[in-house]
Amino acid sequence: MSQRWIMLAIVLLVVTPSTLYARWIKDKVYLETKEVGKVEFSHFNHLEAVGKNCPACHNAIYHIVTKNNPDFTMKEMEAGKACGACHNGTKAFSVKESCDSCHGNGNIAYDTDAGKATFSHKVHTAAFGCDSCHPSTFKAQKGANKATMAQMEKGASCGACHDGSTAFSVKDDNDCGKCHEM
Ligand code: HEC
Ligand code: HEC
Ligand code: HEC
Ligand code: HEC
Ligand code: HEC
Ligand code: HEC
Repeated sequence: MSQRWIMLAIVLLVVTPSTLYARWIKDKVYLETKEVGKVEFSHFNHLEAVGKNCPACHNAIYHIVTKNNPDFTMKEMEAGKACGACHNGTKAFSVKESCDSCHGNGNIAYDTDAGKATFSHKVHTAAFGCDSCHPSTFKAQKGANKATMAQMEKGASCGACHDGSTAFSVKDDNDCGKCHEM
């Protein structure tokens, strides 16, 4: 390449980096947690929301080389780190609320021999923190925690609470229909 072409290439890279990069970067990246599964982050949605502006995050908030980023806790985010640099209730919805917006945790449907059974995160997180269930009773991954009713009656899975004292019992014939579409 002649020097002129190299100069032109450098000028282009300096003047239009974001628009260039925006076309070839990966949209979805995933942040793994041990406790509550993986969190999806969309580059494209964020490039819309903060302008096509890589330095808004790289490398002051998140290093572009992912292994250089530590695992952040929600406490650190509430104090303004990582996602919490913007998700503070002013620039964007707060990490103290809307857990579901980042942690895909809607209803979980189970196919069982006794009809479909449903677990609602919404109902349960009104009363319990994530750590009441994850990762001790359930790995935060759909389908990763198979249990039979016999095991639940001995305190596994839903039976950890649905024992007739913390919540209605898995043994009660009148209550099967609260969980199952029978
Ligand atoms: C709103 C914040 C934000 C903006 C703006 C942003 N990124 Fe990222 N980027 C992230 C996060 C978060 C990660 C994941 C970090 C991790 O996994 O530790 C990431 C990861 C990456 C990775 C590594 C992906 C991988 O899987 O190895 C590359 C490359 C990258 N970004 C490039 C860019 C470029 C180029 C731009 C501008 C066009 C940009 N990013 C804009 C937040 C952002
Ligand atoms: C803006 C997105 C966002 C919101 C909103 C959010 N989180 Fe997170 N959360 C994350 C990301 C990203 C991680 C993983 C961070 C890492 O590994 O670096 C995480 C990690 C966690 C963890 C594991 C680490 C720890 O702190 O123990 C728990 C538990 C958690 N979130 C619970 C919650 C709860 C409860 C809420 C609502 C009160 C919430 N999160 C709201 C993005 C979010
Ligand atoms: C540089 C600022 C900034 C950072 C850092 C940032 N966000 Fe956002 N995010 C925004 C803005 C602005 C919006 C749009 C406004 C809103 O929804 O409140 C948004 C919207 C979102 C949305 C809704 C749109 C969508 O993509 O579904 C999610 C989910 C989200 N952010 C997750 C995250 C996670 C997870 C992280 C950390 C890994 C993060 N954000 C870091 C600024 C940021
Ligand atoms: C009362 C118990 C309970 C609480 C509290 C709870 N979860 Fe879950 N969670 C579950 C169950 C049950 C599953 C499904 C596991 C399976 O299919 O084996 C699940 C699955 C998940 C998954 C995986 C979803 C998928 O589609 O793979 C994520 C992510 C998750 N939970 C995040 C959270 C977060 C974040 C919180 C706190 C805001 C939370 N959970 C609170 C019981 C709970
Ligand atoms: C607290 C909610 C809940 C209650 C109450 C409950 N179940 Fe279940 N049941 C489930 C879930 C969730 C599964 C699927 C578990 C899995 O796949 O890990 C299941 C699985 C089953 C299965 C297939 C597995 C096996 O043990 O053979 C049968 C049959 C069943 N339930 C019958 C019943 C009957 C009968 C009752 C009432 C006496 C009952 N269930 C009460 C939640 C419940
Ligand atoms: C950490 C304790 C805990 C675990 C684990 C748990 N539950 Fe619950 N659940 C409760 C409590 C407490 C209530 C509300 C009190 C009551 O109704 O007895 C409840 C209520 C419910 C309800 C009634 C919801 C409504 O709409 O009113 C259903 C259905 C249910 N749980 C299903 C499940 C299933 C399915 C599982 C297992 C996948 C499960 N629960 C695991 C504590 C738990």
